Amino acid sequence: MYEATVSAPVNIACIKYWGKRDTKLILPTNSSLSVTLDQDHLRSTTTSRVDESFEKGDRLWLNGKEETVKEDGRLGVCIKELRNWRKIEEDKNSSLPKLSQWPLRIASYNNFPTAAGLASSASGLAALVASLAKLYELPQSPSELSLIARQGSGSACRSLFGGYVAWREGSKEDGSDSLAEQVASREDWPEMRALICVVSDLKKGTSSTSGMQRTVETSTLLKERLNIVPGRMEEISKTIKSKDFENFAKITMKDSNSFHSVCLDTSPPIFYLNDVSKSIIQVIEELNRSSGEIIAAYTFDAGPNAVIYSLEKNIGKVLGVINKFFPQAEESKDPFKTKSEDLPESFNQN
Ligand code: ADP
Ligand code: DP6
Ligand code: CO
Repeated sequence: MYEATVSAPVNIACIKYWGKRDTKLILPTNSSLSVTLDQDHLRSTTTSRVDESFEKGDRLWLNGKEETVKEDGRLGVCIKELRNWRKIEEDKNSSLPKLSQWPLRIASYNNFPTAAGLASSASGLAALVASLAKLYELPQSPSELSLIARQGSGSACRSLFGGYVAWREGSKEDGSDSLAEQVASREDWPEMRALICVVSDLKKGTSSTSGMQRTVETSTLLKERLNIVPGRMEEISKTIKSKDFENFAKITMKDSNSFHSVCLDTSPPIFYLNDVSKSIIQVIEELNRSSGEIIAAYTFDAGPNAVIYSLEKNIGKVLGVINKFFPQAEESKDPFKTKSEDLPESFNQN
């Protein structure tokens, strides 16, 4: 048996991806840019195995529960493409074991809430692609692998890189230029911190996939947003390179609010923010106003949970106000650490 285990961290977008121009290939209606978080905190860990003796058919367990792998579904497509790349290597070098012909067994764990708007599809699909690339010893670069991860979940292509990452929308119909690349490394701006505020760990009512499709079909405001985003991509990249936190924060908050506005402009409307999320927005706006400078930026993905970006020197102050207005936050300092990452029993069957 051959086995490989890889962890991938989540990434939280400052310029949000929301809308597909091609739903099968997962080509976005706009470029996006995110920060990949530290792997020590929110991560997916995926173990992939192949063996000649496994019964026919690929199988996958997510958080200990088996999910069906449809051949033409997103997971199936990722597996097929990576298997093809392995086959190419096997054809070039006949001494390689024929792993591409053997069934796969994949087990993945998220150490944080799944499908709750904390980007589990990003870390999850990135970990899947990275673990298969390791198992198959593929020569492809992270940007090439991002083309495959993108077809699993759009946001996943960005989690194959650390630091500040752009997903370029590309212009080719086959999607071959719709890939992720690093804009700056974590070390380029090491003072950056992200505070995750778990408002709810429940599964969201509207998945990102169905929500954004509904927006594309029904929102007129989305067209307006698509005119604005390219300029924001340029500007935010400059703020990262020049470590200009104030403008980085302004753009990040504006883009989060723009994304939630197009959700509201969708029919029927999509509400990802709840009253606690809105209070967090008010608390951070007030913190910035009373500080006389912008020291914190909130952003919300497709769920009520907040991510607050701030610099190390100010994170104490940010934590102070969050704990003051949301006192329960202090009690559950590390809500993620109790999650088991043991492989499921049934994973060891054939
Ligand atoms: P989120 O906001 O958490 O990204 P999404 O609606 O985008 O929520 O996607 C959630 C879906 O992503 C899950 O229902 C599951 O299908 C998939 N997913 C999440 N984590 C993993 C994982 N570790 N491995 C494989 N697929 C995953
Ligand atoms: C709001 O990547 O989860 O988090 O491509 O359909 O799997 P699919 O959607 P997904 O959408 C993420 C939306 C977002 C913004 C972002 O991460 O850029
Ligand atoms: Co997602």
